[in-house]
Amino acid sequence: MVTSFTFSFDALLACLFPLALFAVVLRTSFANLRAWSWAAARDFLSLRSLKFSAHGPFSQEKAYQSYTQYSRLAGLEVATRQAMYSSLGRAHKRLGNKIGYPAKLEQLRYVTDINATITEGIAGLAAKEFGLSETYAGHADLSRVRESLKHFIRDWSEEGAQEREKIFRPILDVLAAVNPLERKDKRILVPGSGLGRLAWEISQLGYDTTANEYSFFMNFAFRFLLSAETTPSINEHTLRPYAHWFSHQRSNDSLFRAIHFPDAVPRLTLNFRLAESDFLTLSPPPPRTQPDTSPPDFAWSKSDAGDVHDQKGYDYIVTLFFLDTSLNVFETMEHIHTLLRPGGTWINMGPLLWTSGGHAKLELSLDEVICAAEEIGFVFQNGSGDGDGKGGLGARCTVECEYTGDLKAMMRWIYKAEFWVATKTK
Ligand SMILES: C[S@@+](CC[C@H](N)C(=O)[O-])C[C@H]1O[C@@H](n2cnc3c(N)ncnc32)[C@H](O)[C@@H]1O
Repeated sequence: MVTSFTFSFDALLACLFPLALFAVVLRTSFANLRAWSWAAARDFLSLRSLKFSAHGPFSQEKAYQSYTQYSRLAGLEVATRQAMYSSLGRAHKRLGNKIGYPAKLEQLRYVTDINATITEGIAGLAAKEFGLSETYAGHADLSRVRESLKHFIRDWSEEGAQEREKIFRPILDVLAAVNPLERKDKRILVPGSGLGRLAWEISQLGYDTTANEYSFFMNFAFRFLLSAETTPSINEHTLRPYAHWFSHQRSNDSLFRAIHFPDAVPRLTLNFRLAESDFLTLSPPPPRTQPDTSPPDFAWSKSDAGDVHDQKGYDYIVTLFFLDTSLNVFETMEHIHTLLRPGGTWINMGPLLWTSGGHAKLELSLDEVICAAEEIGFVFQNGSGDGDGKGGLGARCTVECEYTGDLKAMMRWIYKAEFWVATKTK
């Protein structure tokens, strides 16, 4: 008798749950339907044409809307998890209660609210600096907000130091080998700079550095760090960046762990700029007017200083996990070539995860990328060999690394990123 009651109660729940879910979906859909517009439809249909339009997927409006909506959308996700849990049978719910699963979902709600203080801070600053308000009618993009939040960890936390060391070191070693007295006269562009740590590190070496990024998901987050108003000091902020993905976690402590950032405080300076635009629209900087006046007695090499000031273009372009975001990698490499001065240097580190979601016009193998780069007019330092890393400073090599990895997770996604230094010869 008891069994049949339990069975019919569970059956009732099983019927009610889809109905409840249907009601939630219906409500959300109607709410979104009101917000649906031509801009949102275009967001959905096209990547390329929208990147640079007022309401594109990386636009100020979309990013602002997404940061503003983070709390609500993440809250809905928690509600969905709670509804899924409620749909369990009584025996399984008793077991779930025993191991504290409902409390874990409550903790997720609490942590989501804490993370929202960061996203609200980012949105607040963006509203102030760009005069934005919630008039954008397109859909918010929770995943891009989360990607940017994870970049706080990759770029600006002690937790991310290990990940950064592997990929920054070969690049910074090449740049650190240049005479410090020459560096201030050398211009470096870092396209696709994300949250800007590499570009900032390069500027700290004394180079005249421009970080370039077109996604306002990234730029708003970076501005949050650059502003003395929102980030006055080191490790000022706290995030629980891994909380929303329950997979591969050894414990809830690990899942909900807090990470403080930034481990260094970046500011824009005379030698550190941010160009918030599409890399493909950038022009080579004009020739420098000031000749190099550094004393000649310094021990570092002074190979080409002095004769480069009448040339327009960057001395270095540094691409980190950037090349494979290209819709047309030929166009990207040609533009790197155009922006460099003759004799200028392209430093690259990254995999070939073609990320334009089926929109890329080309998806090349590494061999093809190298061949095309040579055709365009690059000569690879220490040859274009097999990247075994035995060629010394700046030699092509393969670097095992991660991208916004979780150090404590039960899985690792390892890239075998390719590092090279190439010179513009023609
Ligand atoms: C995979 S992420 C890498 C970010 C950063 N370099 C790093 O390693 O953390 C690629 C970045 O390039 C940016 N990006 C892609 N195409 C771009 C373009 N044409 N102009 C400027 N930024 C671009 C994206 O918005 C994204 O932030």
